[in-house]
This record gives sequence, structure tokens and C-alpha cells, in this order.
Amino acid sequence: MRNSKPIDWVPEQTGTMMPGHLHILDQTLLPTETVYIDTTDQEAVWHAIKTLQVRGAPAIGVAAAMGVAAAAQDRRSGTVDDVCAAVDNAADYLATSRPTAVNLFWALDRMRRAAHASSAATGEALARELVDEAIAIRDEDLAMCRAIGEHGATLLKDGDTVLTHCNAGGLATSGFGTALAPIYVAQEQGKRVSVYADETRPLLQGARLTAWELMQAGVDVTLICDNMAAQVMKEGRIDIVFVGADRIAANGDAANKIGTYGVALLARAHNIPFYVLAPTSTNDSAAATGADIPIEERGAVEITEGFGRRTAPANVKVYAPAFDVTPAKLITGIITENGVQETTGCSQASWAK
Ligand code: MRU
Repeated sequence: MRNSKPIDWVPEQTGTMMPGHLHILDQTLLPTETVYIDTTDQEAVWHAIKTLQVRGAPAIGVAAAMGVAAAAQDRRSGTVDDVCAAVDNAADYLATSRPTAVNLFWALDRMRRAAHASSAATGEALARELVDEAIAIRDEDLAMCRAIGEHGATLLKDGDTVLTHCNAGGLATSGFGTALAPIYVAQEQGKRVSVYADETRPLLQGARLTAWELMQAGVDVTLICDNMAAQVMKEGRIDIVFVGADRIAANGDAANKIGTYGVALLARAHNIPFYVLAPTSTNDSAAATGADIPIEERGAVEITEGFGRRTAPANVKVYAPAFDVTPAKLITGIITENGVQETTGCSQASWAK
């Protein structure tokens, strides 16, 4: 599943009624069902992002770009201005789906700029260009993931064990992943690398997605509950931590799935290197520090009735932030498509300050 395609664009087939469209793997049904959503509908794309049918920062960006391309295609019989208006409307609408992953806004801005900078003479030509732009975003993301994997694999030795949180694998990107990419590259290089996957409450991306995709790829993976990570580290089972990111502030603070900050604190307490792996499209220079990163809050039901079974008293008060921010001082390094950038971090003695 390392090269899985959670999101793809299916070109228009001559002789069929279906125009070019998004092909989305519904991740809410994994690992028990493999169901795809084929759509050009803006509300369906918004819903897919909002409900995590497509999720993971880079994959959300690709889905949003393809959603804009679908909107452009829908208006292609109109003028260039009609297509630009459709692009603006779709970008405004899709931007309201989820707030934290900056890749969403990055991809929407790129599509908007491509539309307004184009010299296409007709709506038809502009729509074609925008489909190509969305496909380019997907292809570039895949190449960035591969490069992240190559750089990250230099940190892995034969026999190493990685701990990861949430899913920053092929399912979260155009394929191959960010935090899991070095594991796939190391595997290609003949290194034996094992993984401990945090299950990642409340939506279980680690259990449902990371464990599943690593098993598909033949990687040795062990699933643990989130509250087991400290014990597993204390037992000396973990050599390195790799996690993804949804937004990285200018000072190196990194937002990722709720629980990542706790893992970083645990890693520092056990003197285990902690790396964040993300394409540069995850950088947000407008956010000076992590305090400027908007944190999504999810519905209470995901905690009280996760997967359809009530596990908390009716009407209990719930707080459900979906992400947290790991301060730069707890991050050993950030790995992008450009290489491994060691951060200054902080000394062991000052880690908790
Ligand atoms: O809520 P999700 O499942 O979209 O959260 C995903 C994460 O936090 C990932 O670690 C992050 O997006 C990086 S994906 C390469």
C-alpha cells in the first residue's frame, strides 16, 4: 500500500457520460471495506474532506485542487471569466472544510493563481489547464514524498524500530507518505525496520490506516494504544520517532494529530530522537509560532460514540481538539524534500521548560 492512491483524477473517457472526476478512497471504511467515491460534485468533495474520507494534509490539498478543477470543468462551456468565477467560488467553499492543514489553503491558492494568471482564450482551454495543474500538484507531492523518504532513510539503520503517530503514510498523501516514506525506502534498501503504531484516538488512524498500510507493504508493525507509548519507550523498544505535520510555523513549531505533542515529550524524556517529516507545502510563513496555527475541534460524538457505540454518559461535556502543536525545542529535526534540517532543539536538562 506504499504506492496507494487515496485520491486520483480519472480523465474523461470518450464515449462515456462521466466527465473527468475525482476518485477518492473512502478511508472511513478502512480497513474492512475498500470503497471509492467517484464525483465532480463540490459538496461531495467538501464532505469527503470534512468527514476524513480523504485525510492527511497533502492528500487534503490534492483533493481540494481536484475539486476546484472539477468546478472549472463544469463551467467550461462558459467564458474564461465564468470559469475564473467558478474557481473562486469552489476555492472559497472548500477552504471552509478543515482549518488546520495548511496544504489545503496552499493548493487552493495555487489553483486560484493558475486560473487568474492564465492566458487561455476559452473557458474550455482554461478548464483543461486547471485539470493539468491539479494533476501536477498530485505528481509533485508524490515526488516530494519520495525525496522525504530518501532523506529520512539515511537516519535508519538495519534493525531499527520507529514509533509513529496517526497516519502519515501513502494514504495521507498522493502515495508513499511522509513519516512512513523512509521506512519504505529503507525496506527497498534491504534494511529491516520495524514500526510501533500508536492507535491514535479518537478516530484510530494509526490502527485502521497505518497498521493496515504497513502490513500491506510487508513491514513489521506492532499496534499499541496511545497510552502505551511511554512504557514501550521505557522498555527500550524505540530507536526513533517519525511523525507528519499539518502545518509548520516559521519558528519550527509543528501542528500534527492530537497526541503528537505528548509523544514528543515522551521521546525527549527517554532521549529518543523525534523527527517531523513534511513537504515544504506544509510550511506556513504567515504563522510566526505554533500559537498562530488554528486548531480544529471535532464533534463530541467522535469521543462519546466512536464508530457507533456509546462509551460515555449521555450529555457529558467533551473537548475535542483534533491537533496539537509540538514546540520546535522538542523536535530533533524536520525532514522535507530538500533534506534533513536538524533543529537546535534544547538540552536534555531544559526539555520541560
Ligand atoms: O485528521 P487527519 O487524519 O487528517 O490528521 C492527519 C495527520 O495529523 C497527519 O499526521 C498529517 O496530516 C500529516 S500526513 C502526511
